[in-house]
Amino acid sequence: MRTSDAVWLAPGEPQEIQSDLASRFHEEYGRPASGTWFAPGRANLNGEHIDFHAGRCLPMALAHGTYVAAAPREDGLLRLRTLDASLDDGVTTVFADQIGPRAQAGFAGTIEEDEPTGHWSQYVHGALWALRELGAAQPDFHVTEGFGADVLVVSTLPIGGGLSSSAALECASILAFVALGTPLGLANPLDDLNAALTREHRKQLAAACVRAEVEVVGAGTGGLDQTAAMRARAGKVLSLDCRDFNVQPLDIGCILRGYRLIAVDTGQAHRLADGQFSDRRADAEAAAQLLGFDRLRDALPEKPRKADVLHVLEEFDRLAEQLESVAGRDIEACRRRLRHALTEMVRSEKLHHLLSGEAYGVRHITSTVGDILTAGHMSMRDDAEVSFTVADLVVETALAQGAEGARLIGGGFGGSVLVLIAPAGLPRLTAALEKISRNIRLIDVAPSAAAHAL
Ligand code: GLA
Repeated sequence: MRTSDAVWLAPGEPQEIQSDLASRFHEEYGRPASGTWFAPGRANLNGEHIDFHAGRCLPMALAHGTYVAAAPREDGLLRLRTLDASLDDGVTTVFADQIGPRAQAGFAGTIEEDEPTGHWSQYVHGALWALRELGAAQPDFHVTEGFGADVLVVSTLPIGGGLSSSAALECASILAFVALGTPLGLANPLDDLNAALTREHRKQLAAACVRAEVEVVGAGTGGLDQTAAMRARAGKVLSLDCRDFNVQPLDIGCILRGYRLIAVDTGQAHRLADGQFSDRRADAEAAAQLLGFDRLRDALPEKPRKADVLHVLEEFDRLAEQLESVAGRDIEACRRRLRHALTEMVRSEKLHHLLSGEAYGVRHITSTVGDILTAGHMSMRDDAEVSFTVADLVVETALAQGAEGARLIGGGFGGSVLVLIAPAGLPRLTAALEKISRNIRLIDVAPSAAAHAL
């Protein structure tokens, strides 16, 4: 029987992790690492499955994340290994100039034959490819001819835990490559890079990591995760407008005064490169197409309300009335995905107004935020249909134990539930969660800083 303490997943001590990683690097590659770079995982208060519809998301970076130790090579080889026992299959090797988008006909891909979609190394390959693409147009990021690297990875995030371990890997890797292979990095060694990276640089690097995941890995990410990892601020929630990817850091103190946000990793891993995520996205995109919008956010006014959602749904019903399917997809399923996206957008805007102090006179801000979280879960469960039994049980249990609110976060089909609860309720909650599954782990969501050099 585990003790309650064992249920908590600690972020670890960065300096200790770095020094352990450095000695493992030396053992593996027979030379010292040139540095270590870190990128955090994320939790999201609201805004799931709407980044690719240009909706608003409200992510925070975790203290947990991925560390990458690396040293440059001049022969164009990229050699990678992870210390995560569940992913490690030795050193993988690829020529950097052979990495490219999956769809590009005739591309050699990697030296390894038949590498499956979503192999962890592809996220690192993708980061280097996308940096080279970015550097072709942006001189600060121009990658040195013949650049390659030896890389060792370790993560304090649960893999596939819905806390954006993939984006953390991409973002930590791209920072390592910037540091070791571009003019900006070479002119600003070690942690000088942190001050040298402007907000615009970070925005460009986040966009490059999206390209890595979409084009090289082949997963349908929408930019939420990479933006959180690359642009988060300590103590803040980012209000991310996915119409233009501008961010506004908002204080989260008003929610956390007397409360805590906990991510409950259900222990059921999800894989984003799986078809179910794209399937849900395709339903919502078919609905948008029927309504005549490229981006679903444009179906709602600037400050949307519930009535606006009903209006769009009525319009959908009118347009679908004579049809047997919408772009070959089930009409009712498309309508549910549409309703999730629209109501999720309304919830995000409401939270934005609450947290930015625009909603004066809301006295019980924590319970209002809690209710929004729980409504978000119901929508993930019933309309987006991306929830699963353990997540639903965790939400029910958290609410029964006095949480203010709880919801599934991330892409779904596995992953984590975010719980807003007073600290006094935590011992009962942990005891109750342990009865649901022995694989459950708790993570304290302490809004943390973005990706950086150590
Ligand atoms: C995954 C994707 C993100 C986002 C979320 C769901 O994490 O990578 O872009 O779509 O799912 O909100």
